[in-house]
Amino acid sequence: MCGIVGYVGGRSALDVVLAGLRRLEYRGYDSAGVAVLADGGLAAAKKVGKLANLEKELADRPLPSGSTGIGHTRWATHGGPTDANAHPHLDNAGRVAVVHNGIIENFAALRAELAERGHALGSETDTEVVSHLLSESFSSCGDLAEAMRQVCRRLEGAFTLVAVHADDPDVVVGARRNSPLVVGIGAGESFLASDVAAFIAHTREAVELGQDQVVELRREGVTVTDFEGAPAEVRAYHVDWDASAAEKGGYDYFMLKEIAEQPKAVADTLLGRIDAAGSLTLDEVRIPDSVLREVDKVVIVACGTAFHAGLIAKYAIEHWTRIPCETELASEFRYRDPILDQRTLVIAISQSGETMDTLMALRHAREQGAKVLAICNTNGSTIPRESDAVLYTHAGPEVAVASTKAFLTQLVACYLVALYLGQVRGTKWGDEVGSVIRELSEIATQVEEVLETMEPVRELARSLAGKNTVLFLGRHVGYPVALEGALKLKELAYMHAEGFAAGELKHGPIALIEKDLPVVVVVPSPRGRSVLHDKIVSNIQEIRARGARTIVIAERGDQAVRPYADHLIEIPATPVLLQPLVATVPLQVFACELATARGNEVDQPRNLAKSVTVE
Ligand code: F6R
Repeated sequence: MCGIVGYVGGRSALDVVLAGLRRLEYRGYDSAGVAVLADGGLAAAKKVGKLANLEKELADRPLPSGSTGIGHTRWATHGGPTDANAHPHLDNAGRVAVVHNGIIENFAALRAELAERGHALGSETDTEVVSHLLSESFSSCGDLAEAMRQVCRRLEGAFTLVAVHADDPDVVVGARRNSPLVVGIGAGESFLASDVAAFIAHTREAVELGQDQVVELRREGVTVTDFEGAPAEVRAYHVDWDASAAEKGGYDYFMLKEIAEQPKAVADTLLGRIDAAGSLTLDEVRIPDSVLREVDKVVIVACGTAFHAGLIAKYAIEHWTRIPCETELASEFRYRDPILDQRTLVIAISQSGETMDTLMALRHAREQGAKVLAICNTNGSTIPRESDAVLYTHAGPEVAVASTKAFLTQLVACYLVALYLGQVRGTKWGDEVGSVIRELSEIATQVEEVLETMEPVRELARSLAGKNTVLFLGRHVGYPVALEGALKLKELAYMHAEGFAAGELKHGPIALIEKDLPVVVVVPSPRGRSVLHDKIVSNIQEIRARGARTIVIAERGDQAVRPYADHLIEIPATPVLLQPLVATVPLQVFACELATARGNEVDQPRNLAKSVTVE
């Protein structure tokens, strides 16, 4: 949440910062602002609404040109989206500018203290106290990095801060507690951002700032210390994707591009992890096999779409390993005092690697002695750094706020972990598992096949643009798929959408069924677990008898559902547990098309932001 950019170098800082903000707008779009150091002073502009509003303001009232600058795109926490609450925030003399991501929990006390000392604070934000505190500290020590360290020691909460001072014009200073901050190291120029996407067009050499660290950014390079001033090691890594990966590449929306990239994302996530003999080699899982053999419980923690991946993983883990597995919303997990010990394996799933609830859940788990394995899409982000091991998904950068390709790769990673646990523990390593591994290798092609047949789904979505409610039903792994379909529709189309376990229907939700209500039903394969299949066919008949308009997602050739499907969406045959990989895709397309038909912003849905770095 909130995107931050900082630059010092030989180019126009404003150009670099604005280009960076364009790439970070997915992190928040309530307001945007910039500050540059120029002509011995500091010039700033900020505007409520999308970045385009700020760009218009800058075209009407250009800022002087300078080569040191910072910028911010906001997802509002303290104080509504207004010009006054937009970042950067300046001190009363207009010499310091600060941008911030996170929440400063003790801001009220600090604000009262500053007011007593005669500072006039004009916004409702928690951030503004920092510019005033920095101004005071800088006046006494004359060093912006030292001033930042002094201020950070007084702050409580989660914060990434980036600041410039007109009296120290060749320096940008950043600080980090919990929320992400990455440094980019170029030739004669340095960058700071919430995400490498902001500077990937200029350099692919990056340094992830650690917890409680302060960085001083100069043209010649960077210096990192902890909050006390002790030097910290700077270890750069090479970003293995380029600027084109974070561009729309001819698609109208990032979401469309990301849906289309799913076959590759799935294939890349499997790459090198299944050997020729059909065994799994997950080198990154650094938890020793001896420890994995002793695991007596698995707990999965995640939020939103990643939580749905975790719900599906529960079925796979319990079925293939016979280890009890719970999947829990990360935001609930630590508050219920969960029972964890050295024999518990906690799996934290997160695309961004920065979701605060998931991070807090994993910290809690480690404090209790549990081992934590992260499944993550973002190299070097906080969640994998703080875990005992990580299995990276290789979805590439996901820019659209609604998660699509990351979800499919999270599923693949969960299956790999489940199968690996089975392999290490020698659990009933029978024919089923061998054939699942073979079928997993085919799955990218099947996702591709689904994508090629989506035109009728788009047409159907357009025809439903005037509806208010859509329900989703599933059983077994189809239930989390139903939840994911409903979540996509809520966040993109702003429609009332609910996912239910089909078996629960008669315990209440069936009362919602009325004439012409669209109900999407995810039907399990008729093979293998045919009891499940037959039961859901009965459920479809029950809702149809009450007037529902049934939209059925079923395996190609499933004749039993045909008579009861007002709209049939066919998907390739897969083993039951793998079906979510193909069944989710039509639901993503459905939600995206419905949102477009309703005139909504697909990549940046209202009120949302990607990477939720506050609890
Ligand atoms: C929904 C969506 C969110 C995220 C959730 C967790 O489309 O994208 O529900 O899945 O905020 O984010 P990560 O995976 O970054 O921890």
